[in-house]
Amino acid sequence: MAVETPTKQAAGAAPSAPVTEGLPPGVRMPQSIQSIGFLVRNIPMMRRAHAKYGDMFSMKLLGFPDFVIISDPDLIKQTLTADPKRLHAGTGSPLGAVLGANSLLAIDEDIHLRQRRILLPPFHGERMQSYAGAFAQIADEEMDTWTTGEPMRTIEPMQRITLRAILQTIFGAHDESLEQLEDLVPKVVDVATKVVLLRFAQKDLGPRSPWGRFLRLRDQIDAILYGLMDEARRDPDLADRTDVMSLLVQATHEDGTAMSDVEIRDQLMTMMIAGHETTAGTLSWAVERLSRNPEVLAKLTDSVRAGETDYLNAVFDETLRIRPTVSLAVRSVQKEPYELGGYRLPVETRIGSNPALTHFDPNLFDNPTEFRPERFLESRPSNYAYIPFGGGVRRCIGAAFARMEFNAVMERMLDRFDLQPTDARFEPWGFRSITFAPGNGGIGTFIPRS
Ligand code: HEM
Repeated sequence: MAVETPTKQAAGAAPSAPVTEGLPPGVRMPQSIQSIGFLVRNIPMMRRAHAKYGDMFSMKLLGFPDFVIISDPDLIKQTLTADPKRLHAGTGSPLGAVLGANSLLAIDEDIHLRQRRILLPPFHGERMQSYAGAFAQIADEEMDTWTTGEPMRTIEPMQRITLRAILQTIFGAHDESLEQLEDLVPKVVDVATKVVLLRFAQKDLGPRSPWGRFLRLRDQIDAILYGLMDEARRDPDLADRTDVMSLLVQATHEDGTAMSDVEIRDQLMTMMIAGHETTAGTLSWAVERLSRNPEVLAKLTDSVRAGETDYLNAVFDETLRIRPTVSLAVRSVQKEPYELGGYRLPVETRIGSNPALTHFDPNLFDNPTEFRPERFLESRPSNYAYIPFGGGVRRCIGAAFARMEFNAVMERMLDRFDLQPTDARFEPWGFRSITFAPGNGGIGTFIPRS
């Protein structure tokens, strides 16, 4: 039961607000119903709880310690910039089971910072910009196959583009192994998203069971990754290569020892999966939003064809505001209770910063349901009011890369086609356990430009 306790107070200081032991009020339904609601009606459920309990409320999900959902920028700032020893992002993350225990998303504190430093360079600065031409070519090859003049789903085509782009960035030259990965990775993602949050279903009950299928696909992927690792180590030109694999096989820990094969494998898996699903979802949401907002579509088309990028950048930002593709940036309380928003949250409590709530707060964004990229040209929201990439020392390492890739693909799409406006109803938020994508596949109708 929650008990109010006075906080420590410095002599002479103004009395501070009382702190409540335990969790804030929150969703009261049985845990199983909350878990189903979270998976199948995530947005309506979050919005209802937010309307009732405000910017901080609790939830219970099967297989997890208590969850606290926050959407106030001050609470988000405190959480995302907290001492990484007090709030972990990796410990207990369900992603560890899918990506591997050494995944950047599953580790914390010093080891996390060291691995992050190794992985960051290819996703920033000049090195990253140098990929834009290759990505435009990858987009063109895919768009050559598009059915024009009738509605088509864009999510799978966008996934093919972003997967090929990240594979090329990670491994360099495109060869037969990458073709095998292009076939296997979507299959593994498909089955993993079905069971990643269902810990009780993570049992190998044979090749037909979801987890059994996942493990067998993962073994096939591992065999390819270890083969590519060997090849990279034997490559006489390794020192001149700039792909991520070449950096990883040459990287060392603080004590000078090389990264182990398993560590490298887990980071490769992380980047292959984290690095393509989200960007594909964002591209597909952009098609969905643009076709329902003809004025924005016309303005974007003109500006892209005139070779400008400011409005395109604003469309990227606004798409991720109105349709953030990652549902929560999660931290878990370590070692001792953690004080947040007037509550002392017990050890292990998960704190989830929720962009889909924050981005729709009318005090932070005027007319938040309106798709209006201009808002990002008029002023930049604060780092903690706008959180599609999370924040602090765990902020997404691929944020700049995703923008560059989004721009390269949209430029080719709008240069080659006229996207047709539609008055169809908006597509629902489709939830794939962790990420959102357009519920009907991001349908667009493309007419080739004469
Ligand atoms: C629009 C596209 C993307 C979105 C919306 C997105 C979103 C996010 C979010 C919300 C987080 C968690 C941040 C936190 O907990 O504070 C994250 C982490 C991460 N993302 Fe992305 N991401 C995108 C693209 C990418 C790409 C292209 C890569 C390619 C490498 C990538 C790799 C990662 C990695 C490795 C992490 C873990 C960072 C860490 O824990 O230090 N993401 N991303």
